[in-house]
Amino acid sequence: MSMTLFEADLTLPLFGRGKVRDTYDLGDKLLIVSTDRLSAFDVVLPDPIPDKGLVLNQISCFWFEKTSQVMPNHLITPIDTLDSLKQHLPPNTNLPDYLLGRSMITLKAERVSVECVVRGYISGSAWAEYKQAGTISGTPAPKGLQESQELPEPIFTPTTKAEAGHDEPLSEKETENLVGKSTARELEEKSLAVYQHARDYAQGRGIIIADTKFEFGFVDGKLILIDEILTPDSSRFWNSDQYTIGRSQPSLDKQPVRDWLADSGWNKEPPAPKLPPEVIKATTLRYVEAYQRLTGRKLQNVSS
Ligand SMILES: Nc1ncnc2c1ncn2[C@@H]1O[C@H](COP(=O)(O)OP(=O)(O)OP(=O)(O)O)[C@@H](O)[C@H]1O
Ligand SMILES: [Mg+2]
Repeated sequence: MSMTLFEADLTLPLFGRGKVRDTYDLGDKLLIVSTDRLSAFDVVLPDPIPDKGLVLNQISCFWFEKTSQVMPNHLITPIDTLDSLKQHLPPNTNLPDYLLGRSMITLKAERVSVECVVRGYISGSAWAEYKQAGTISGTPAPKGLQESQELPEPIFTPTTKAEAGHDEPLSEKETENLVGKSTARELEEKSLAVYQHARDYAQGRGIIIADTKFEFGFVDGKLILIDEILTPDSSRFWNSDQYTIGRSQPSLDKQPVRDWLADSGWNKEPPAPKLPPEVIKATTLRYVEAYQRLTGRKLQNVSS
């Protein structure tokens, strides 16, 4: 029913185009469309990955529903039918089928410009820093940790939301200076609470959420979760079965692409090379499997 989508083409004002999502401005609301674009090493690949946008959108919706008791969020409704779409878009907007299953209507918030990173396991940039300096995000960490090891407690390691270039770690004081003391405390508490809730659930389904990133915003003076949450694009998801301490872990979703890119000799500068069809197929399968394993649901509106 649905089809592969590289770029949305709605007759609505654009709020922003990211690496993966195209967001439209509906005044006090947003329409967030997850395309099938895939980024690796911060570069968008030229090939769409069929059904990836469905997976990302439906995983986010799943978590928004599941965690709303822990922290309210921006989701108004997922877009699953043409009727729900019509209801939320202004008259005379084009209503392409490709939106079904890959988009949601949300509240528009005043964004808090902090990337709220939570780490339950030591990996990626945190592992690189720890190996070199014994610290994580500038704070001394327990001695003797191995790569990918679970931390004694999940930690909050916020960063700036850089418009260009790399996000920089924020100390507690810096976060307070940016957003105020009480908001800083709320960001930390809620980020940890939502992460722990999701981590415990995912563990029961054989998936490790090693780390993740949240964004928050204000609506009518109240802090809510915005953006996407707990997707493979905003988190590290590992397969519990394959988890081995002391090395980097294969990615649950993008590993076929990463492996192929590594073998291709690509220098990680744009443009990225085109992927062979079998790598695209394997990657779609990984995303769909991750979705079904995590949620126990069947993906809606799949193309094949
Ligand atoms: N409910 C919301 N209200 C206001 N802004 C939001 C809301 N949800 C998400 N946003 C913002 O909309 C933007 C969505 O952009 P998106 O994530 O697609 O691209 P990006 O962050 O610019 O780049 P990248 O693809 O690298 O993440 C982000 O800046 C995010 O903070
Ligand atoms: Mg983003």
